[in-house]
Amino acid sequence: MLQNPKRYTITAALPYTNGPIHIGHLAGVYVPSDIYSRYLRLQGRDVLFVCGSDEHGVAISMKAKKEGVTPQEIIDKYDGIIRKSFSDFGISFDNYSRTSAKIHHDTASEFFRTLYDKGDFIEEVTEQLYDAKADQFLADRFVVGTCPKCGNEEAYGDQCEKCGSTLNATDLINPKSTITGETPIMKKTKHWFLPLDRYEDFLKEWILVGHKNDWKPNVYGQVKSWIDGGLEPRAVTRDLDWGIDVPVEGAEGKKLYVWFDAPIGYISSTKEWALREGKDWEPYWKDQDTKLVHFIGKDNIVFHCIIFPVMLKAEGSYILPDNVPANEFLNLEGNKLSTSKNWAVWLHEYLEDFPNQQDVLRYALTSNAPETKDNDFTWKDFQARNNNELVAIFGNFINRVVVLTNKYYTGIVPSPNELSEVDEATLTELKAYPAVISSSLERYRFREALGELMNAARLGNKYLADEEPWKVIKTDPERVQTQMYVALQIAAALRILCEPFLPFTAAKLSRILVIPTKE
Ligand code: 2FM
Ligand code: ZN
Repeated sequence: MLQNPKRYTITAALPYTNGPIHIGHLAGVYVPSDIYSRYLRLQGRDVLFVCGSDEHGVAISMKAKKEGVTPQEIIDKYDGIIRKSFSDFGISFDNYSRTSAKIHHDTASEFFRTLYDKGDFIEEVTEQLYDAKADQFLADRFVVGTCPKCGNEEAYGDQCEKCGSTLNATDLINPKSTITGETPIMKKTKHWFLPLDRYEDFLKEWILVGHKNDWKPNVYGQVKSWIDGGLEPRAVTRDLDWGIDVPVEGAEGKKLYVWFDAPIGYISSTKEWALREGKDWEPYWKDQDTKLVHFIGKDNIVFHCIIFPVMLKAEGSYILPDNVPANEFLNLEGNKLSTSKNWAVWLHEYLEDFPNQQDVLRYALTSNAPETKDNDFTWKDFQARNNNELVAIFGNFINRVVVLTNKYYTGIVPSPNELSEVDEATLTELKAYPAVISSSLERYRFREALGELMNAARLGNKYLADEEPWKVIKTDPERVQTQMYVALQIAAALRILCEPFLPFTAAKLSRILVIPTKE
């Protein structure tokens, strides 16, 4: 683990533009990465937080086929919706790009070409699944079948979402084309393979030895079982008509595998940002003093912990991720969230029902984040989190402090008189919170960190309840000056401490408490 790095490159998984964003995406990836980035910025760190739309791959082609429109129309539609959702929920990307952008096509092509020129790929003609009726090779989501590892009958040609295994389409038992429903035949085709097996020793040393103690157990465990199971060469090109052309002779009509180009999207998003801001992108990806952190969901672990690092290592000039704090999945009212089955709380629809209540959802999702196991989102829990915690603890404290300060001192912070033992103890306790919250955030424990923020608000409520300034004002107004001064210190601290988690509330508190901010 890199201690005290010079800069941070924080990435959030690029969402596929085959549908809008739902609460599962927000809870698993975008809220935690935003909390982490905001927290680091508050500390004055040099932070680059990047993301973008993942616009290639079979998921997009399938959606276009289903809706009878072009893939370009699909990606333009959902890129717009997704961008707006991120902006509406205060996800503070420094740059949000698209993999359809020229800068990305150029960057991904160049990356492939570098590995090709160095002889890092195996070029091989193999037999692949082919749908004779559709006149098309089948890969990735164009084919489903039974997972040879866990028996899931709906595994895709590149991955089983049930057990998380990465698969080759030819591994599937009883494969069926998702285009026509036909059983595919075998047909010869040439592809380029990344020889993951040649990197086993490097991966063992780097992850199994080097990150045994700082990577989350769910991430470490998955990676270990893949490495222990033996790695095989993996095709990084496809016979498809949508994607980035394979930039070598003899590859006409072939495209890069979406999981080859998508993570390079983090690099092209960085380049786009640097061009716009007049900065140098390279230190954010190539300086050993940069801490690279990938925020992802658990179905993306193999791509970010094995395949992309092998690509970076093979290229030779890039740093490797310091951590990959993947989350498990969020379910909705007991069932798996699903874009295709339309079982989701879509962010744009949430805002129609709860206008300006972004922080309530950010709060509910973080308190119940699927950090160590799958969790369930229920509307009952959402209601309880809002009513019993955000409103009853945090909101109640701020409200009481503001009302009393306005009433007794026309909104001006009173000067304190002599501090009592309780005052001193309360302020000492308050001062410990930044370090406590930091310690949780540095270990990617966002639920725990948010719990401590609420404890700081509880401290305020307890102080007011014990001190009862509304009673003391009748007999000892000078003491109340000190009490309200202490209470206002807690409120001001809460304003800063809550910013990574509740940015809209923080902005509101800045206005109410008249705290100047940098923005
Ligand atoms: O699983 C997904 O939604 C992918 N689009 C994530 C890509 S992450 C990165 F590598 F680009
Ligand atoms: Zn499986």
